[in-house]
Amino acid sequence: MTKTGNKTVNIHNAVIPVAGLGTRLLPATKSQPKEMLPVGKKPIVQYIVEELHLCGIERVLFVTGRGKSSIEDHFDDDPDLIRTLRESGKEDLLEELEYERMGLHFLYTRQRRQRGLGDAVLCAENFIGTEPFVVALGDSIIGRHEPSLIVKRLIEAFEVHQASCAIAVEEVPIEEVSMYGIVKPSGEGEVFEIGDLIEKPRREEAASNLAIAGRYVFAPDLFEAIKRTGYDHRGEIQLTDAIRLMLREGKRVVGMRLSANEKRYDIGNFESYFETFVEFALTDPVYGRRLRNHVKELLGENL
Ligand code: G1P
Repeated sequence: MTKTGNKTVNIHNAVIPVAGLGTRLLPATKSQPKEMLPVGKKPIVQYIVEELHLCGIERVLFVTGRGKSSIEDHFDDDPDLIRTLRESGKEDLLEELEYERMGLHFLYTRQRRQRGLGDAVLCAENFIGTEPFVVALGDSIIGRHEPSLIVKRLIEAFEVHQASCAIAVEEVPIEEVSMYGIVKPSGEGEVFEIGDLIEKPRREEAASNLAIAGRYVFAPDLFEAIKRTGYDHRGEIQLTDAIRLMLREGKRVVGMRLSANEKRYDIGNFESYFETFVEFALTDPVYGRRLRNHVKELLGENL
């Protein structure tokens, strides 16, 4: 068991699916994974790993795909680079990547064909075995200055409510519901029971504007549910459809709202990527001030 804050959590394994092709971010993602695009000084996926570490996760399985090996390189030691930095007295530049010292271990497996998020999570079955686990989507950062503790709170809710699944949700504008998995809450408050959920509904089908926010805790029976979930019209197995099946079979699924200061940054397209990068760069404690002045000057020139 690991102590995080003043609570003890029992879930230490997390899965980060990073197999998606990132076609909405071409040409930037032609030869590098979208999860490795920088946001400020760090690649996106490093924020997610830092968030999970803070929430008591000790083992992370990346479900990767073709062209994703730079993610493995990023979390691996590079003795040549370390030596060079040591010789020039700049060792501290890699300090925040010393995960082994922090007790965090990485494993990798591949999703061999693009068959959707549900199928990607199913690739983790052998790694997970019979323990509950976390899923954190590889293209969403939650929190700006500090990583969010939503995963820790989800784990607590999962345990307290003896749920089969706990899902983080956020409010989105009603015109955007078709971009997300949308839940139907059957209760009020920060934590609530989910009565139904549907992946990327049309506006008139959406039961709320509460969108699945890329962080989940699951009981291992999810894997059996995924195996019994059919392909959707795009030939993909949706994770949302597998959760829906669990619900229909009488399992308890709870939702938890992100708190007001836990903004989620979705790096799925250029619009959101640019906005996220600009926000993180403008608020960087070292470089932000100078950049803000520069941007003010540029805006004064009526770009
Ligand atoms: C995935 C999930 C969706 C969720 C979204 C959050 O969709 O399938 O339920 O709301 O992530 O980012 P994707 O963005 O991969 O299409």
